[in-house]
Amino acid sequence: MSSKQLVCLNEYEKEALAILDRNSSSYYQSGANDEQTLHDNINDFKRFRLRPRMLTDVSEVRLETTILGERISMPICIAPTASQRMAHPLGEIANARAAEAMNTCFVLSTIATTSARELSEHVPNSLRWYQLYITRDRAITQKMVKRAEVYGFKALVLTVDTPTFGTRYSDTRIKFKVPQHLRMANFDGIPSMESGMANNSGGSGLNFFSDTFFDPSVTWKDVAWLKSITALPVVAKGILTGEDAERAIEAGVDAIIVSNHGARQLDGVFSTIIALPEVVAQVRGRVEVYLDGGVRKGTDVLKALSLGARAVFIGRPALYGLAVGGEQGVTDILSILKKELKLAMQLSGETDVQKLRKGLVIHESMMTRL
Ligand SMILES: Cc1cc2nc3c(=O)[nH]c(=O)nc-3n(C[C@H](O)[C@H](O)[C@H](O)COP(=O)(O)O)c2cc1C
Repeated sequence: MSSKQLVCLNEYEKEALAILDRNSSSYYQSGANDEQTLHDNINDFKRFRLRPRMLTDVSEVRLETTILGERISMPICIAPTASQRMAHPLGEIANARAAEAMNTCFVLSTIATTSARELSEHVPNSLRWYQLYITRDRAITQKMVKRAEVYGFKALVLTVDTPTFGTRYSDTRIKFKVPQHLRMANFDGIPSMESGMANNSGGSGLNFFSDTFFDPSVTWKDVAWLKSITALPVVAKGILTGEDAERAIEAGVDAIIVSNHGARQLDGVFSTIIALPEVVAQVRGRVEVYLDGGVRKGTDVLKALSLGARAVFIGRPALYGLAVGGEQGVTDILSILKKELKLAMQLSGETDVQKLRKGLVIHESMMTRL
């Protein structure tokens, strides 16, 4: 089916899941354990209702904004996801090209199937950030940081919710594996990591890998260490509480992503849209706050922005766009979200993503006053 016939992100998801093999669809789709939080990430957006204002002149709507000082055409960016070449032969390159075409930011995963160097060669002018896991051997982390700097990445996104990988039942059941013809490209030239990948067998392959190489003893002190070895801004990805937001700021981070890793880590945590207001209230504008998890519609973006996120990131929808139509598929996904956001703003009486009115969004539990 041509990607052009699909009109919303949910249709892309259906189409992608019909195209992808079982190994890939299981890996992309799954959440941790009973998938309670996976369900909540989507459904809790619906619990927030919009309170539109009429007749405000919405003939001009501004979607442009900045993240860490970089201009983007809309507050919608692409989250880091592993193994994008399982969705399309050009994987991360196609995804980053789409982000560039739409003038927004792409985050490369540490466990990508395209290296930082390859990405910088193929999409040299894109706005790109590098997602980092801290390895037991800090020299390897240091090497990755250096590469991110050399290859033109503008920030490090340190994932803080993954001392070890969560359990996803379907991946365990099907013994998920990164296909033989693909590689964890950011580990090129790091022999212990390359051989670790070759040894991966049984269970969910990536869990074996992460248990072997990623360091579960990491604390906020390591964030301070990371800050000390790089001039790049550090973004903490995976914050869900005000307490951790405060610790992150004390450790010197430059921004926070409210995220539960697409509900792939601790099942039963809050959805991100529910967690967002507490983090925003604690941060009090000291650093930028973004959100990912469950964003599928323009109204979802508007709700997150109105609750204090400066921008949102999408994970699975970009993978589904890739599977359906490569670079064009992701461009379509981003275009649909952009159009939907613009329309949602117009119909709500809003004209600038950076100046949304307080009270635009209300949780439905607060509507029983009558
Ligand atoms: C297939 C898949 C792989 C992911 N890989 C990573 C990763 O390598 N590093 C990371 O920090 N987050 C990873 N994430 C989490 C995403 O960055 C993001 O938090 C999440 O996908 C957002 O939720 P959404 O998929 O509902 O948009 C992954 C998510 C998925 C679905």
